[in-house]
Amino acid sequence: MPVITICNHKGGTGKTTTVMNLAAAMGLCGRRVLVVDLDPQCFLTQIMGASEPAPAMSSLALMTHDANLRTLPVVKVSGFDLLPATQYMTRAQKKLTGPMDSFWIKEALATGHDYDVVMLDTAAALSVYTMNALVASDYAVVPVTPEYQPVAGAAQTWQTCRLVREKLNPSLAEPLFLLTQVDGRKRGHAAYSQYIRETYAGRVLDSVVRTCTSLADTTHDGRTVFDHDVVSRGARDYANAADELSRRFYPERQTEPVGTNPNGEAEAEPYEAANSGSAGSGGSEAVLRSWIPLNHC
Ligand SMILES: Nc1ncnc2c1ncn2[C@@H]1O[C@H](COP(=O)(O)OP(=O)(O)OP(=O)(O)O)[C@@H](O)[C@H]1O
Ligand SMILES: [Mg+2]
Repeated sequence: MPVITICNHKGGTGKTTTVMNLAAAMGLCGRRVLVVDLDPQCFLTQIMGASEPAPAMSSLALMTHDANLRTLPVVKVSGFDLLPATQYMTRAQKKLTGPMDSFWIKEALATGHDYDVVMLDTAAALSVYTMNALVASDYAVVPVTPEYQPVAGAAQTWQTCRLVREKLNPSLAEPLFLLTQVDGRKRGHAAYSQYIRETYAGRVLDSVVRTCTSLADTTHDGRTVFDHDVVSRGARDYANAADELSRRFYPERQTEPVGTNPNGEAEAEPYEAANSGSAGSGGSEAVLRSWIPLNHC
């Protein structure tokens, strides 16, 4: 049961977009996925069309002694359950300054729940909520746009993860990096992508999320890219990233990545085949299932 924090200390690198679409991809693949919005700005909560709950019914409730994930109300959205955030978290964090205040979420998860994957969306700031997320996690995924500031933010996030691993959570694996909002026309993107791959080597996912207007079009109605534009490259990129992460989390279930034939050669446009075939009648789940080998799930 992996607990995964999505984090980068730099803002706007695609953390929230990554959380919602990875969670949706894993959910469509049959996993029971819980997403916890830990950003006091509540963008994920708003994008998924959830109304802001009372603090006691929000992710802030995890920071209490009697937190119980089985009784907290979650919002059912496309492919996953969401525990929404509240803007009251900004004020509440002024009281969360004790040495044990980084362990609330770890303790809340330890009381038990019914999910296969828990994914935690964090704000860019290194707050007590981000620390709680990292202390509770097995994995950290760092979305990084190949530009100077996000790359610098990724380096800081790497250091934070190392510190958390040394001092607070030895179970936290070294972070994985996911290149996001990659624009093939920008020379700087190619250079920074290469820099990230050279610097973090095997910790960088092969899958890349390219710029895609379908990912930027937020619908605020609980739908993800798999619902409103399943044949877009954004849907395919996140399906591939979810598949690759599943292979990292469950290495015993190795199979070929999406879009690769048995010889390891890239196949032409698997999503176009889906588009010209059963996409219309089968719906997003059918298409996604055809992309993601189910034995990864
Ligand atoms: N692959 C993409 N292609 C095009 N636009 C994208 C892509 N990924 C994210 N965006 C857009 O970029 C903006 C920032 O993305 P997002 O909110 O996911 O970043 P974030 O890291 O969560 O930001 P914050 O640090 O403020 O929480 C949003 O408007 C989003 O719609
Ligand atoms: Mg965000």
